[in-house]
Amino acid sequence: MKKKIKKIYIAGCGGMLGDAFYNVFSKKFIIKCTDKIISENWLSKLDFTEFDKYRQDVKDFSPDYLIHLGAMTNLEECEINPEITYLNNTRSVEEAVKISNELDIPIIFISTAGIFDGNKDTYEEVDNPNPLSHYGKSKFLAEKYIEDNSKNYLICRAGWMMGGGKKKDKKFVNKIINQIIDGNLELNIVDDKNGTPTYTYDFANQVLLLIDKNIRGKFHIVCEGFTSRIEVAYEILKYYKLEEKIIINKVNSNFFEKDYFAKRPMSERLINSKLNSISLNIMRNWKICLKEYLSKEYKYLNK
Ligand SMILES: NC(=O)c1ccc[n+]([C@@H]2O[C@H](COP(=O)([O-])OP(=O)(O)OC[C@H]3O[C@@H](n4cnc5c(N)ncnc54)[C@H](OP(=O)(O)O)[C@@H]3O)[C@@H](O)[C@H]2O)c1
Repeated sequence: MKKKIKKIYIAGCGGMLGDAFYNVFSKKFIIKCTDKIISENWLSKLDFTEFDKYRQDVKDFSPDYLIHLGAMTNLEECEINPEITYLNNTRSVEEAVKISNELDIPIIFISTAGIFDGNKDTYEEVDNPNPLSHYGKSKFLAEKYIEDNSKNYLICRAGWMMGGGKKKDKKFVNKIINQIIDGNLELNIVDDKNGTPTYTYDFANQVLLLIDKNIRGKFHIVCEGFTSRIEVAYEILKYYKLEEKIIINKVNSNFFEKDYFAKRPMSERLINSKLNSISLNIMRNWKICLKEYLSKEYKYLNK
């Protein structure tokens, strides 16, 4: 008998990770992607803090899975607006749990390495969170609510996201590329921040695999290999053969404290321990992913 194609509702899908989820999941599922701003023709409008509309929209679509993907992701905005942050990043997740329980479907939630305090060098799923910022706290509280109240959940913690390209990437790689495009011959890069990059496409494929295999629980999902902000910057320059032309000045995080005043952990290095333990880790090394990302999204920089 022919297998029925399953349906997935993805809330908050208009950002850098949402882009990869749309591309990966639309190949295997019937999907409905929503966001509060419609930036693509495959998105429809839904602000997930409007809880009645959220519930109704998901119920009308009647999905087999609910992916609650979006969040307020700018750490400084979160520090300035804690109430709006908890509404977007915690309260909305509580509603998503209730909706998924009512429909008796799994909820998939995207969390972050930013729930840890960074006092250790690396973190596994068994380590205790101790978030330093409102962003980190709001995501941790959402995780806790899910674990305490959901009947059927998958929590996926990502690291430093790479993806989305010029239009959607709000993070480190795009910031470095913009400085290169602007003709900067010196880059100030922090040498006191460690982490694990996470390519949006690898992450989406990994989540897809866990869904396919009916796996539930809490997972670290990051690219293989530990690194630092400064090493990522060197790797970008190396890719464009700009190591001789552009100088990297090592600075510590205090250098940027005016612009980036939210507290960030010294280390956000995650280990995919649980993926390894069930032999389902398909995450590639971050250097391979970075090259793929740059060649796909920023090839115009290759002269
Ligand atoms: N970026 C990272 O390094 C990182 C690392 C670990 C985990 N994560 C998690 O990964 C997930 C995806 O983040 P991302 O990196 O793709 O961030 P992103 O590019 O900022 O995308 C998030 C999307 O959610 C939307 N959104 C926010 N509030 C919403 C609301 N009330 N209703 C509907 N949509 C809303 C945002 O719209 P606006 O842009 O208009 O606000 C944006 O389109 C988030 O849960 C984030 O916490 C991100």
